[in-house]
Amino acid sequence: MAYYSEDLIEEVISQNDIVEVISEYVQLKKSGRNYMGLCPFHREKTPSFCVSMDKQIYKCFGCSEGGNVISFIMKLENLDFWDSVELLAQRAHIDLSRFEVRSFSNNTKLQKKEDLKETLFKLNKEVGIYYHNNLIEILNSTGYNEVKEYVKKRKFDLNTIKRFGIGYANGKVPLYNYLLEKGFSKSEMIASGIIMENSKGKIYDRFFSRLMFPIFDIRDRIIAFGGRVLDNSLPKYVNSPENEIYFKGKNLYAMNLAKKEKLDNIIIVEGYMDAIALQKSGFKNAVASLGTALTENQARLIKKYTDNVIIGYDQDGAGQDATMRGLDILAARKLNVKVLILDKSDVKDPDEYINKYGPERLKNCLDNSISLVEFKVKKLEKSIDINNIDSKIKFLTGVADIMAKIENDIERDLYIDKIARKYDIGTGPIIKEVEKRLKKASNDEIVIDMQSINRKMQLVTNIRKRQEQYIIALILCKDKKIQEEIFDKIKPEDIHDENVRNIYNFLIDLKNNFDINKIDILSKVRDEEMVKELTEIMYIDLSMSDRNKLFHDVIKNKNKEKLFLRRDEILKRISENITSDEKEILNFELNQIVVELSKLK
Ligand code: GTP
Ligand code: MN
Repeated sequence: MAYYSEDLIEEVISQNDIVEVISEYVQLKKSGRNYMGLCPFHREKTPSFCVSMDKQIYKCFGCSEGGNVISFIMKLENLDFWDSVELLAQRAHIDLSRFEVRSFSNNTKLQKKEDLKETLFKLNKEVGIYYHNNLIEILNSTGYNEVKEYVKKRKFDLNTIKRFGIGYANGKVPLYNYLLEKGFSKSEMIASGIIMENSKGKIYDRFFSRLMFPIFDIRDRIIAFGGRVLDNSLPKYVNSPENEIYFKGKNLYAMNLAKKEKLDNIIIVEGYMDAIALQKSGFKNAVASLGTALTENQARLIKKYTDNVIIGYDQDGAGQDATMRGLDILAARKLNVKVLILDKSDVKDPDEYINKYGPERLKNCLDNSISLVEFKVKKLEKSIDINNIDSKIKFLTGVADIMAKIENDIERDLYIDKIARKYDIGTGPIIKEVEKRLKKASNDEIVIDMQSINRKMQLVTNIRKRQEQYIIALILCKDKKIQEEIFDKIKPEDIHDENVRNIYNFLIDLKNNFDINKIDILSKVRDEEMVKELTEIMYIDLSMSDRNKLFHDVIKNKNKEKLFLRRDEILKRISENITSDEKEILNFELNQIVVELSKLK
């Protein structure tokens, strides 16, 4: 990766108006000096996502997500910091070559982190090639071999093995020495998770006697591995641990391949084997979420390529529950979701289905995938015996619950019609029940929102924290005199709130290297929690307040706090077993504190 000078960051921020950029993703409405919209980072029905044109920042008062245009792209496009900067630079047609440098001059920590990431990608690539060559060699060998047998049993052809970079970890030739020869250090190997060290200092491979599946990111870089045993032993799969380049739930297996196709839709399945089996049979739009519940990040990733998703999870209870959760997450992202129903119950997942019944028949199932609403009704139907009157009522109530959640009126009516006909019930009772729920829902919504706002307010108005936020807010006002006094009088350890203290420390560092009134402070912060905190503080508007008075109040309160703390310490000490001399000294100090405190009142 090319390294860019930090100047590029400010250039990118100034060339990409935050309101314009966010408008490409979120519908914004002007509201006073701000723009409001529905937060893209959590589900909500009333807007609490606020974009400030003046400050060029955004903040969600519902989920506390916040930052500048770069943080927004990082979060929404699922990119890391410099990839986001690059994307925004391209959007604004900034000539990147002007900012290329060999190394960062003033951020060695960041450089180290970037370097480690690069190294881990390289290391994974070497390991991937190593495992892959291993497998190819085994397949080319003659005679019986359990790996060969297994590959045959799973119906992997050579093409598929190459396309997915499938390999084998035999664990016999120490990977450690191999990687050492390739120039990687022990700590880098351990950071990758491929090599492990036990408490006695013994080095060993994480993966051995396993069929290896490299997990690629959308830029075709190996970020992790999954390894499957060849028999029924447990654990069935072992995966790389999370590290600087691998975050579970941020990626989708085989998305790097799927995205190269023209995508009408994407099929999400549970396992490696399912994604591979589908792709091998021509369904090149199949990706796997790898056993974990579908995440918001994955939904966002899909949304980049298509609006249409088919969930093809396992047919067992766990798979169906996961389907249900996945449906909601995807629907919340405004994706059209359908569910694949396998028309045979003697197979567990799409992989087994293809192997037993062939791809044509699966194609048929895919074409007949059912909608979210139909899936929910079907699930309800399964849990209830609708032949008995009591149960029929239960079923009806359940159907009404489902229908009430459909936002589009026309769609809702169509479904009610369809279901009434299918189950031979009149539309009248369903409609009545649905209307009841819709009315109640609109009332509930307001109540729920008020509650969450109140909770938020309580959090924010936590008085001490607010006071501490003022310290930072005052520094941001660019009044040199106030700034100097604050830095002089307030020590970082006086600040209790960890996030605020981190920011304060950061500002101290920053002012030693820059003129903090001339730089974009937010863009220098890389820690996500600090970005959130700082944006919250930036929304504190001190333009109309008497800053000098506020400043003196803050200092006064901090002093009071310190005196109270010392007083409590003394009282505690006095109550302990101490010499009369010490007691006398402490009593003297205590008197002074009381006098000081009375002056401060
Ligand atoms: P086969 O049984 O070989 O067909 O694999 P599968 O891909 O169908 O796996 P399954 O449906 O059992 O599980 C789905 C996914 O969950 C797998 O692809 C793995 O990513 C993950 N998974 C399953 N078992 C384990 C396990 O024991 N450990 C870990 N870490 N992940 C697992
Ligand atoms: Mn399977």
